Amino acid sequence: MDEGLALILQRRTIRRFEAKKVDRNKIIGILKAALSAPSAHNLQAWRILVIDDASKKEQLADLASKLYYKSLIARNIAGATVKAGKARERIVSAPVILILFLARDELRKEASWRRIRNEWIMGTQSLAAMAQNILLAASALGLGACWRGVALFMANHINREFNIPHSMEPQALIELGYPMQKPKPKKVRDMKEVVHFNEW
Ligand SMILES: Cc1cc2nc3c(=O)[nH]c(=O)nc-3n(C[C@H](O)[C@H](O)[C@H](O)COP(=O)(O)O)c2cc1C
Repeated sequence: MDEGLALILQRRTIRRFEAKKVDRNKIIGILKAALSAPSAHNLQAWRILVIDDASKKEQLADLASKLYYKSLIARNIAGATVKAGKARERIVSAPVILILFLARDELRKEASWRRIRNEWIMGTQSLAAMAQNILLAASALGLGACWRGVALFMANHINREFNIPHSMEPQALIELGYPMQKPKPKKVRDMKEVVHFNEW
């Protein structure tokens, strides 16, 4: 099978990592792949915060667990202390964290609400393409990665904590490192169920 296609078909999310530093060159390789993703109008309206410094990672992990604890308590969900502790540990144990931001102020300026909304969606879709490039590049370099939605739930807090301008919208967080697990191939939905050729 074609190597590129095989890479795409074999990629799986990795959630546990070896306690081993990731070489900066590998991170740069992944970032190059990220920056070459397609984007609407080729605007490349994005930023990436790379966190591989232990104390910065702890700062992020503390923030995430504090917010998660609060939201669990607010929703009356049991085991908040343990769950928040695990959320903290998960971030701390990922050797590298990437936070992907949509640079909202770089999107096309439009007059109507519908057009503004669509530009925002296209910016978001572009960021998702960037995220997928990161997952695939990580896999190609023998690393594992997990795309996490958590950044959405702590967006304003991330900006405040790390002095990031308000116009930057955190949309995705990606954990990276050497895999400590080897997930089995994934069962994907039957093509007949989700694909239509020529007519629905
Ligand atoms: C937008 C998005 C958000 C995700 N958020 C999380 C998350 O918060 N925690 C997590 O463990 N995995 C998260 N994932 C990973 C998915 O759970 C994973 O992609 C899915 O189970 C399919 O597995 P695979 O990536 O191995 O194919 C997320 C994936 C996407 C695309």
